[in-house]
Amino acid sequence: MRASHLPSPVSMRAFFFILSALWMSPEFLLATNASITRHYNFNIKLHNVTRLCHTKSIVSVNGQFPGPPIVAREGDRLVIKVTNHVQNNVTLHWHGIRQLQSGWADGPVYVTQCPIQTGQTYVYNFTITGQRGTLFWHAHISWLRSTLYGPIIILPKRNVSYPFAKPYKEVPIIFGEWWNVDPEAVIMQALQTGGGPNISDAYTINGLPGPLYNCSSKDTFKLKVKPGKTYLLRMINAALNDELFFSIANHSFTVVDADAVYVKPFDTDIVLITPGQTTNVLLKTKPYIPSAKFLMAARPYLTGQGTFDNSTTAGILEYKRPSNSSISNKKLPLFKPTLPMLNDTVFVTNFTKKFLSLATAQFPANVPQTVNKQFFFTVGLGTSPCPKNQTCQGPNGTKFMASVNNVSFVLPTISLLQSHFFGQSNGVYTTDFPVKPLFPFNYTGTPPNNTMVSNGTKVVVLPFNASVELVLQDTSILGVESHPLHLHGFNFFIVGLGFGNYDPNKDPANFNLVDPMERNTVGVPSGGWVAMRFFADNPGVWFMHCHFDVHTSWGLRMAWIVLDGDLPNQKLPPPPSDLPKC
Ligand code: C2O
Repeated sequence: MRASHLPSPVSMRAFFFILSALWMSPEFLLATNASITRHYNFNIKLHNVTRLCHTKSIVSVNGQFPGPPIVAREGDRLVIKVTNHVQNNVTLHWHGIRQLQSGWADGPVYVTQCPIQTGQTYVYNFTITGQRGTLFWHAHISWLRSTLYGPIIILPKRNVSYPFAKPYKEVPIIFGEWWNVDPEAVIMQALQTGGGPNISDAYTINGLPGPLYNCSSKDTFKLKVKPGKTYLLRMINAALNDELFFSIANHSFTVVDADAVYVKPFDTDIVLITPGQTTNVLLKTKPYIPSAKFLMAARPYLTGQGTFDNSTTAGILEYKRPSNSSISNKKLPLFKPTLPMLNDTVFVTNFTKKFLSLATAQFPANVPQTVNKQFFFTVGLGTSPCPKNQTCQGPNGTKFMASVNNVSFVLPTISLLQSHFFGQSNGVYTTDFPVKPLFPFNYTGTPPNNTMVSNGTKVVVLPFNASVELVLQDTSILGVESHPLHLHGFNFFIVGLGFGNYDPNKDPANFNLVDPMERNTVGVPSGGWVAMRFFADNPGVWFMHCHFDVHTSWGLRMAWIVLDGDLPNQKLPPPPSDLPKC
């Protein structure tokens, strides 16, 4: 067993530099072949950050923004001690980690734990099983993840190589979303008034908005590369409410991994990444040193009706020149990439369909071939009445809401997992979550007159190892919109996707049950549907929600309870003794 402690606060850029140096001598980082335990100390603190000429105090980990990377190998155990030194309640979530039999470490507030309160400590303890690639960690309470997030980098087991050429260097590219004001105040005000939240002021790459914003040129991410090399970009969309297109001028990518699952490699000039998704791409640099610099830019893919931040974040790709070179990078022309139109659903659909599992003997796609539990969930917006003596800023004087099968999920005040584990569900949750809409309608046609949602803390209960098929159907209520749905505790196979209303008689004939993509987050097509399958092989309580935080806040969330199996290794162990109390 060997502990690896993170160095004390260093800037993200400096830290990445250290990381890449380590990767050149991996034996330094990883001394043994066997799985090891890696210890991290995460201190939640306030610190001042200035972007776009606005200085504000942000909640962060160890004074770093974005937060420190977690680096491990497949099979390793992580022990992350989180201490809360701020006034806010906090929880952290290890997004995409399967948490096999370690549901107590998953992190969504009031789902698997009560919040870590001021002055308290909670140790997240879990093992990375059968996953390799890039994931990320983020706060899972209110909108704190706007500043509390960082990469999770999972290397293959020692002496196991990538199923693609070994990259020369690896570089995290994390997209974020920046508000000049406190994002907690933004969502609090929105929930109060019932209107849409104030849009963000910028998107960021590795915490930096880049040169296309006012007062921001100095805050630009620069990627300095050598010619004729392959770089692995570990991309993460940690933005709150926006799917993003990304491209680098005059360069293309080979996509090799998504949500910590290898994919059949494919080439593309542009990547679309929804909040909650991660993807690894190879970037081959030019064989010579070009006489130009290259902008890398990201801007949103927009399908909804509301107001959006439609600004562009950018970084710069520069080739390193020999020190005796007479050309200075400063004077070189800057080439710009072409990104799709803001609402280019055709591009997004084609891009999404390119993701396929390797489906080899070493990396099989264990797709359920038969199904014993079927679900059909509508996802979309709705409204709730304005309370008496208040004026509301939602549609027609109501409040904006969002729902799954018209249930806007209400978080309890004690965690669902605790209530479930100790058999005390009374007054906390009910097990009558509708398996299909109670009142069917033409989901993508003319919306019904009544757009009011119902409220409740309802869950679905699944027997251990149930073979589940779930169809998610977008609705046209207050406008069709793409929704990045994220499931905790599982990867699912995306067996089908289409536009309009799902047809249970015709569509299953076209399902891909051979090599469908395995992910933890999928964009439900705007005005369309997606079908997924998975085995419920992980006992616990598992959150599922839209990874647009505004939709989660409005109730587009629900939970699955997966019961214990009969064998000892199919049961959820009791909670750790330091599990936060409510
Ligand atoms: Cu990345 Cu439930 O979240």
